[in-house]
Amino acid sequence: MKLARLSKVFLASILCLSAACGARKPDSGGKIVLRYLDEPDVAGTAKEIIRKFEEANPGIRVEMVEGPSATNTREDLYATSFLSGQDTYDVVFMDIAWLAKFAGQNWLRPLDDFFTPQMRSEFLPGDIQGSQYQGKIYRLPAFSDGGMLYYRKDLLQKAGFAPPETFSDLVRIARKIQDPPKLWGFVFQGAQYEGLVCDVLECIWGNGGDLLAADGTVKLDSPEAIGAVRWMVEAIHKNKISPPGVLTYQEEESRHLFQEGKAVFMRNWPYAWELLQKDGSPVKGKVGITPMVHGRGKKSAATLGGWGFGISSLSRHPEAAWKFIHFAASPEIQKLRYFRTGRIPSRKSLYRDPEIIKASPHITALYKVLLAARPRPVNASYARISDTVQLYVSAALSQRETPEKAMQSAAKEIREFLSRQQ
Ligand code: GLC
Repeated sequence: MKLARLSKVFLASILCLSAACGARKPDSGGKIVLRYLDEPDVAGTAKEIIRKFEEANPGIRVEMVEGPSATNTREDLYATSFLSGQDTYDVVFMDIAWLAKFAGQNWLRPLDDFFTPQMRSEFLPGDIQGSQYQGKIYRLPAFSDGGMLYYRKDLLQKAGFAPPETFSDLVRIARKIQDPPKLWGFVFQGAQYEGLVCDVLECIWGNGGDLLAADGTVKLDSPEAIGAVRWMVEAIHKNKISPPGVLTYQEEESRHLFQEGKAVFMRNWPYAWELLQKDGSPVKGKVGITPMVHGRGKKSAATLGGWGFGISSLSRHPEAAWKFIHFAASPEIQKLRYFRTGRIPSRKSLYRDPEIIKASPHITALYKVLLAARPRPVNASYARISDTVQLYVSAALSQRETPEKAMQSAAKEIREFLSRQQ
C-alpha cells in the first residue's frame, strides 16, 4: 500500500518538475501573476474565463497549468508543490475530496475574511459543508457534482421497461437488451483512482452499508459493503453486463462508449448530459437520467462531488487571488461553464435561471439529487483511506481477491492506520 502511494507521489514529482514546479517567474511588467493547476481545458473554457477576468482586471495575469484529468494525480501534484515549500501556486482548484487533507496540512489560507456567511448562503449547502474544516472555510465552490444513472430511453421503451430502481432490475434489463460487444449493459468508472471510490460508495450506501460510520468505525467488511462490491464484480464476470475494459475506465471512457451508442446504462456525473445532447451526438434525445440503483428495500445514494477554488497559504497575493476566484465562481461564469462544459452550478439561484431551465429541464430533478448527495468521509487521512479502497476494490474487480477477502483486508488496513492517527 505504502509503495502504491509512494510511486504515485514519485510520478507526481516528475510531472510536477516537468510541468510547473520550477522556480517561480517574477511578476511580469508590474503585473501580479497568479498561477494555478487545472484539469485539461479541452473546450478552452478556462482560457476564456481567464481572458474575461484579465480584461476586467488589467493589473493581474493568470497562468493556468493544464494537469492530468484524474483528480488524485492532480492532488499529488499540488501536494508535491506544497511540500517543496515554494509558492508555485496561488490558487488551488480543488476537488471537494481534498479539502480535509489540504486544510489539515495548513496548505490553504482560511477564506473567512473574504467569504462572508451572507455570500455562503447563496451556494448549495453540501458544497459549503464540504468546503469547511474545523470551523473555517477554505474553498469557494465553482461547480457541484453528484453521481447518477444514465439510461437509453429509446431502448428501454422499445423493450417495454421502466427505468431500473434496484441492482437486480438493472442486471435483468441490461441482460435483456444488451448485445455485446456492440452494445454493453452497464458502464461505470472501474479504473483504480478516486472515481472508483465514488462509484463503490454509491453501491455500498445504496445497499445500506457505509465506509466509515458517523462515529468513525470502519464498516467496509460489513455484509452490505461486501454485497455491493460483489454486485460490481458480478456485473463484469458473471452477468457480463460490463465490458472487461471497464477496469480501465474513468469518466470520459465511460461517456465515450455510452455516447457512441454502445451501452444501455452508465453511471456518471451530470456534466455528461450536455455532451450527450450536443448536435451530432448519436444518442441525442435518446437518454434519460435516474438516481443510481439500490438494494431491495434500500435507498439510492449519490456521492457528492464538485470542484472549487482555494488560496494557497504560501501565496503572496491573496487579495488578487480572491478577486480571481470570486469572478470564476460568479453566477455569470458558472452559467457560461454550464453551457460550455455541462458542469452544474454550485449557486442555488442558477437552478431557477429561465435560460438554464429552458435548455435543460432535467436540472430541477438534478437539484434534488444534489441536495441528497452524500459526502465522502471528511478526514485528514482521506487520501490514504481512498488509496486503500481503490487498491482492494480493484483487486476484487479483477478477481485477484474475493470481495470478502478484499474488503476484510481494506477494513483491517484502514482500522490500523486510523488507530495510529489518534
Ligand atoms: C468528479 C467529482 C469529484 C470526484 C471525481 C472522481 O470530478 O466532481 O468530486 O472526486 O469526479 O473522478
